[in-house]
Amino acid sequence: MIIAIDGPAGSGKSTIAKLVALELGFEYLDTGAMYRMVTLRLVNKKISLEDIRSIEKELKNMKIDILNNRFFLNNVDVTDEIRTPIVSENVSKVAKIKEIRYKMVELQREISKSKNTILDGRDIGTVVFPNADLKVFLVASSEERANRRVKEFLSKGIDTDFQTVLAEIIKRDEMDSTRKESPLIQAEDAVLIDTSFMTIEEVSREIINLVNKRI
Ligand code: DC
Repeated sequence: MIIAIDGPAGSGKSTIAKLVALELGFEYLDTGAMYRMVTLRLVNKKISLEDIRSIEKELKNMKIDILNNRFFLNNVDVTDEIRTPIVSENVSKVAKIKEIRYKMVELQREISKSKNTILDGRDIGTVVFPNADLKVFLVASSEERANRRVKEFLSKGIDTDFQTVLAEIIKRDEMDSTRKESPLIQAEDAVLIDTSFMTIEEVSREIINLVNKRI
């Protein structure tokens, strides 16, 4: 069984997907982390996003492994590094590149093969698994999403302010929704859940109820 969770940054996708996976005994795949790993590699190697030949070469030499929700790039644990501002600022530009998307989608299908998996991202229900057993599209107001991000940063000891985070979220939404390749849109058959005024537990419960109806 495949469960696809899509939605904009900060809508609660990864927190909720992790919880639902735990409750149902499913594997969880954070596809945003995969785009973040590619971004980290390209930034570290100072590769221009216009240089598609070099990007393709890098993609061939990149080994992505995910073990117990830790992310390994060529055997190095980069779980914390992929959440740093430099990666967040560049990831939307990287995720626009079609050669990168093809490779990531191929990998996502391969990783989820013959396993009950819940995946979160932007194009899971539209491109990666158009035949997913359940598709959920999570949304929340920009202000609420910025609030959640600020809290998350603070809990990690990262100092930030609301306006900066809000501006970054709005910019990222705009880039993710207007790009040519696999833009962020709700699949026709996805269930829309607005999480603005819901707790994590309430959203998870609603998704688990939807899964139970489909079994
Ligand atoms: O979910 P996240 O914030 O970690 O995602 C990082 C970026 O990757 C985000 O700007 C959109 C992009 N992304 C994508 O284009 N397709 C996916 N399936 C997942 C993420």
